Formats: sequence, C-alpha cells, structure tokens
Amino acid sequence: MRILIGVTGCIAAYKACEVIRGFQKAGHEVSVVLTESAKEFVGEATFRALADGRVCSSLFADEDPIPHIALAREADAFLIAPCTANVAAKIAHGIADDLLTSTALACTCPFIVAPAMNVHMYDSAATQENLRTLEERGAFLIRPEEGYLACGDNGRGRFPDPEAVVQMTLEHMAEDLPLVGKRILITSGPTLEPVDEVRFISNRSSGKMGACLVQAALDAGAEVEIVSGPVPLSYDGRAKIRFVETAQEMMEAAKEAFPESDIAICAAAVSDMRPARAHEGKLKKGRDDDALGAIELVQNPDILSGLCQMKRAGQVVVGFAAETEDVVEQAREKLARKGADMILANLVGQGRGFGRDESEAWIVTEEGVTELGCRSKKEIAKAILELLSLNRAVEGDRA
Ligand code: CTP
Repeated sequence: MRILIGVTGCIAAYKACEVIRGFQKAGHEVSVVLTESAKEFVGEATFRALADGRVCSSLFADEDPIPHIALAREADAFLIAPCTANVAAKIAHGIADDLLTSTALACTCPFIVAPAMNVHMYDSAATQENLRTLEERGAFLIRPEEGYLACGDNGRGRFPDPEAVVQMTLEHMAEDLPLVGKRILITSGPTLEPVDEVRFISNRSSGKMGACLVQAALDAGAEVEIVSGPVPLSYDGRAKIRFVETAQEMMEAAKEAFPESDIAICAAAVSDMRPARAHEGKLKKGRDDDALGAIELVQNPDILSGLCQMKRAGQVVVGFAAETEDVVEQAREKLARKGADMILANLVGQGRGFGRDESEAWIVTEEGVTELGCRSKKEIAKAILELLSLNRAVEGDRA
C-alpha cells in the first residue's frame, strides 16, 4: 500500500522517521507531506533520504501543478503523525491553507490522526471538540500517551511508540479491507521444461504481473499463496511462496493449494508443450545428434482448466489471455472453454505485453466486458482485485 504520512510542527516530528521505517519494514511505500513548521524540527532532506515516495511541503514548488490532488489520489491511507492542535483544528474546520491541510481535505482514503501536544492543549475543550469532529467524520484517532512531556509537564499528550502507531494504523486499515479472511492462490512466471540436465524450453515471462497481483491481493487484506516458476524478481515476503520449475510441478502445487483457496488467479505463462523425455546428463553434439535434432514434444496439463474442474461452489478462478488480435472474442471463447469465472485479456505483440509495464486490457466475465484501456500491470492487478472484492461469488461461504 502507499501510505501518505503528514508531519506537523511538533517536538515529536522526529518520531515520524521511525514511523516511516516501520511501514517500509511491513512492505508499504511511504510518501511524506510536511508543514512549514515541521521543517523547523526535522529537515526535508531527512525525509527525502527515508521515504520511497515523494516528499513535499509546498502547494506551488512541486513539479506537479496540483500536488495536493495527486497526493490524495495516490494514497491508500493518510496518517498525520504527529498532528498538532493547530492542524487538527484546521482540518476539523475545513481550512486548507497549505499542502498538508489541502491534501487532507482532498483525501478519500482512510484517514488516521495521531495528535501529540502539551497536556493542557490536548485537554482543552477546543482540541477535544476538534478531535471529536474528526472522529465523527470517520477519522481513526491514535490517542497520545500519558507521561513526561518535552515542556516539563506530566500528562496525556506524548506521541506513542512509533511501532505501535504503525501497528494500530495497519490493524485499523485491515478492518475495512475487502478481502480479509480470503485466501488467494496465484500462479506466476514461466515454466521451465527440461530437454536434458542443462537445456530447457521456456518463455520470456518476467513474473511482473504475478508480483503485482500478489501485492494487490495482500493490499486488499487477503492471505496469498504463490506458485511460481523461476523469476528474476522477489515477491512480497508476506505471501507464502512455492517455487517450481515444470508445468507438471506447478499443476501439482496448485492442485494442492486450491482446495483451501477462495480464489485462484492463473497468471503463469505455462509452457504448452514439454519434451517427451528429459535426458539424463548432457546431450552431446555428434553423439546425440538424433535426440538434439528432433526433440519430441508432448502437451502439458492445463492448470487453469484443471483448477476449474476442481472448483466447488463459492470458489472463483481467474485466467489470463494474451492475444495479438480479436482480443475480447478470444477471451470469451477461453472463458467458456476453460470454465473460468473471469479472464483478463490483453493485447500483445508489436512490442506490447511480455516484459513491459503497460498493456491494453479487458476484463471478460459471463456478465460482460470491462474495458480497462492502456494500464500498467499494477493498475490491472488492482482492477482485477477490485472486481473480485465486489464479486458476490467470492462472498459466499466456503463449503
Ligand atoms: N494456462 C495454464 N496452463 C497451461 C496453459 C495456460 O494454466 N498449460 C493458463 C494461463 O496461466 C492463463 C490462461 O491459461 O491464465 C491462458 O493461457 P493461453 O496460453 O493464452 O491459453 P491457451 O489455452 O494455451 O490458448 P492459445 O495459446 O491458443 O491462445
């Protein structure tokens, strides 16, 4: 997920650095928006060094002409930590006079506020009413702790332990995630079919689509199991990963995981054929010319079809179709032939598709076709998971 952290002018601003680290350790991407006062406590350079997303503080200095809208659109959650009494008051009253408060007004994602201030400022009727207003409008409040405060007072107002702030934010977000409690099996990457002990038949699949699906499924709150062929990338460590090589191994692993899954997404580029015989040792020129010159091929099992045949009520199976022409028509045919519930069809060839980040895509189900247009793999994955979250079939009880 992309978490946007708002930092305001508070002595606890330095703790925001640890909050950033905490989200990153949990596999999330962090952008930062600062008030001018925050920069009096921690310099923008520190946040630039830590954050993996953007770091901005001005409505006008950023390359983006409308930075508050861009930040609001990109964010999956907006956490203001620490939040001063002043900023809480401004947001409660809809004042948007800098980048942070304008972004808060434009945000439609989950909004979390971690106030930190002097005990009397916190206890004041004005602050309490403002925080109540924010809560009533749907904000999640991470209350400050009691203790020794920077000003010398003792009482409620201390910014909590950054790890606890990260934990509470993630737990709060998990409550609303659409696929909490669902298990998703994803096949990904190419398969590798041995000719002998050094040679194989494979394809150019990068595993990128699978990795984006894993991320989107985890972000939607699902438990994810991946069965992957060899890929040059690493999957999100929160998922259970099983690496295989051949189509037959992938089939076995997928069949084993499927009964416990609510959804299966077959994104792997499975080799349609494999050598009838994998020779022991290495085939040698001269000695084994016959075997090298005529590799007999046999058909591999179709994993997508196999899972569709095993499907019981409530389970949903998604497949992919990479086509060079008549994309939607061929996807419809594949949907029916393989028995899938949904096919993500995309246009490949002429430099599109494999190994690329963008392609033109359609989601095809029995009910109809959703045209996604030209989207990145990340966006395609998000669209598939959004549709699966809305799918009534997925909401059904596991039999
Ligand atoms: N697939 C699979 N096992 C196979 C072949 C394909 O699970 N042995 C899955 C892919 O993961 C993908 C879908 O089937 O989700 C479409 O694969 P594709 O190769 O396009 O379909 P084919 O049936 O092989 O049709 P064609 O190659 O003629 O387009």
